[in-house]
Amino acid sequence: MNRALFYRKFGLPEQVLTLEYADKSSLKENCVRVQILYAPINASDLIPITGAYQHRIILPQIAGYEGVGKVIEAPLSYQHLIGKRVLPLRGEGTWQSLVDSPAEYAIPVPDYIESKIAARAYINPVAAWLMIKQFLPKGKHILVTAAGSDCAKLLCKLAIKFAALSVTVICRSDNHAQYYNKYAIKHIKQDDKQTIEYFARQADIVFDAVGGELAETILAPDSSEFVSYGLLSGAFFQPKKRLPKVHWFHIRYYLNQISQHQWLKMFDDIWPILDVNDLNRVSLFKFNDWQEAIKTYRQPYRNNKPLLTFD
Ligand SMILES: NC(=O)c1ccc[n+]([C@@H]2O[C@H](COP(=O)([O-])OP(=O)(O)OC[C@H]3O[C@@H](n4cnc5c(N)ncnc54)[C@H](OP(=O)(O)O)[C@@H]3O)[C@@H](O)[C@H]2O)c1
Repeated sequence: MNRALFYRKFGLPEQVLTLEYADKSSLKENCVRVQILYAPINASDLIPITGAYQHRIILPQIAGYEGVGKVIEAPLSYQHLIGKRVLPLRGEGTWQSLVDSPAEYAIPVPDYIESKIAARAYINPVAAWLMIKQFLPKGKHILVTAAGSDCAKLLCKLAIKFAALSVTVICRSDNHAQYYNKYAIKHIKQDDKQTIEYFARQADIVFDAVGGELAETILAPDSSEFVSYGLLSGAFFQPKKRLPKVHWFHIRYYLNQISQHQWLKMFDDIWPILDVNDLNRVSLFKFNDWQEAIKTYRQPYRNNKPLLTFD
């Protein structure tokens, strides 16, 4: 019996998601069946449920884009994966106990990576990795907003690794100072407009996931490259002065362009940057308590990442 969180119409996830029990149909050719251990709650999981991308989503859908689990069924050429932990990506929604996903895209998890970390190895790390590869930070001053998010933390780590001249972050809460101090990254407060304007003028590349007023403050000076990859404030933005180079980043634009080999290789770079001490700590919720998990996700200044567990 499979348990799955479906949405059959668009709307507030708390209202439109329903937990449904059903037998799983037989496994499609070239897919693996994975018994899920953990799946996180990310902004990227909740936004599509609201209907933000309804032009390309056909209902009904099972929610969730990432997670980790053990392979329980596989085609002949992937029998070696049986019993192994993988990320079942680019197939069905992951907020269900049994996920079928294309065998060629299943990512084996190295033994040294904890399952609670592996469950979060896709959306944010891959987005951060792709942005850094696209907008090379070498020799540049980097400014990053929404510094409390895992994606921002990974972006900063990668920017340093790839020789950025300086990295400065804008934090809404004080919860993340320890992390940024550890990497000698300057952190400024989101309500400190004057300092933000100063660093915005110095920045060569801005990575923004907040949008709204903060994006407008940063865009007012002549920042050279502005990468918008999220709108956590829920508000769009209008540049006040001349339009700098604004880039709209979405992970799916890039994934369609990379080969299966590049897809698998990318994770060789990603595993070593996933340090349990650096990412937001985990709060565990039984899958049946998914509403509580989303409620926790919505709390401002939460400083943790809700993770659904499947017994
Ligand atoms: N475009 C893409 O392909 C792509 C891929 C991955 C992620 N994203 C985007 O990346 C962003 C972060 O995702 P995530 O999963 O990393 O989030 P997360 O780890 O769940 O972190 C969210 C954190 O960001 C901070 N935050 C929330 N609202 C904020 C606001 N209005 N202003 C400033 N800070 C705010 C909060 O930290 P404090 O409460 O401590 O301040 C919150 O804990 C989202 O916008 C998501 O859509 C985009």
